[in-house]
Amino acid sequence: MSSIAFTNIGLLVTNDPHIGEGALGLLRDATVTIENGSIVSIGNSVPLGVDTVVDLADRTVLPGFVDSHTHLIFAGDRSDEFAARSSGTTYTAGGIKRTVAATRAASSDQLRANAQRLLNEALQSGTTSVEIKSGYGLTPDSEELAINIASEFTNETTLLAAHVVPEEFLGDPDAYVQLIIDKIIPATKAKWIDVFCDRGAFTPEQTRRIFSAASHNGLLPRIHANQLESGEGIAIAIEFDAASADHLSTSSKNDIELIAASKTVATLLPGAEFSTHLVPGLGRSFLDAGAMVAIATDCNPGSSFTTSMPFCIASAVSLLGFTVDEAIHAATVGGAAALRRTDIGKIAPGYTADFIALDAPSYIHLAYRPGVNLVKSIYKSGKEVRTWQK
Ligand code: NIG
Ligand code: FE
Repeated sequence: MSSIAFTNIGLLVTNDPHIGEGALGLLRDATVTIENGSIVSIGNSVPLGVDTVVDLADRTVLPGFVDSHTHLIFAGDRSDEFAARSSGTTYTAGGIKRTVAATRAASSDQLRANAQRLLNEALQSGTTSVEIKSGYGLTPDSEELAINIASEFTNETTLLAAHVVPEEFLGDPDAYVQLIIDKIIPATKAKWIDVFCDRGAFTPEQTRRIFSAASHNGLLPRIHANQLESGEGIAIAIEFDAASADHLSTSSKNDIELIAASKTVATLLPGAEFSTHLVPGLGRSFLDAGAMVAIATDCNPGSSFTTSMPFCIASAVSLLGFTVDEAIHAATVGGAAALRRTDIGKIAPGYTADFIALDAPSYIHLAYRPGVNLVKSIYKSGKEVRTWQK
């Protein structure tokens, strides 16, 4: 057994109200002790007999961010669409097809290198766990390739073959749904199934068919819902006990009440609001209704090209009406809940020692100093890391 005590932590966010103050479980002048990559104790002094002591120089320490929604397997660039939106065009699902064309044309090495580069960025801004979706291949082979590459980086892999109907099936969308059900789902190694249930993508009926087939194959559901248009996405998520319903920008009051009364996490994507819609105060209504809320980057080349959870925390505060504490909670335990994980998202005994140290006197600086990377060091399973590894 090898034990390490991380000491001289100026401010510790445990996310455990039994350990410290408030919902974030705050402690001052703390020491976190780990054994073999897991947290064993939290206190104010170094326990006797530890093998190694690491001085964290009075920094703020919090759980690594859990980014529960990304689309990192892609090629190409759509900055022209972003620029066009800045002069008034509207975001639609149609742009996805440009990324599909670029992704199909890319080699697996290019896709892997792009994902690695983005994950290095994510890590350096404090993300220690990530979910990765397919969805820019839309053929049996290219969806399988995307999931294979994603699984080199994370166990939280999501099949999003139902992202949009590819060009070659535009005349017969149901034939594409059938291909997903007959070929793509049975062959996949993904853990999760996702459907973009929205205008320009898949209908509620198609979504239900895909979720039913996927559940027979052991895949767990999560959904893109109410991004562009209010629909049945939240009701379907609850019907299938989805871990999370994501986007939710056009949700009705009834939807918000439904999700708040369910086990499904409401995952809000401040980067997508920033880049496409700018719906002010949206998040507040989910929080006020008592929903379990997560925030994630949605990193993708169309609607939210950021890997930075601190940027999403700052945007959740300034655009969606979160308090700073709520945004930190949503970016850590909220993300873990959206992946139904109980081993990450807290700094508490029994949890994996995934945490970050900030060069700042408080976690508040993550929102107070937007655009500045305050993450000084990153630990995964207790080991300091500089580049993304699974
Ligand atoms: O989550 N909404 C669907 N999919 C992505 C955007 C994809 C794209 O525009 O390339 C999203 O925002
Ligand atoms: Fe998305």
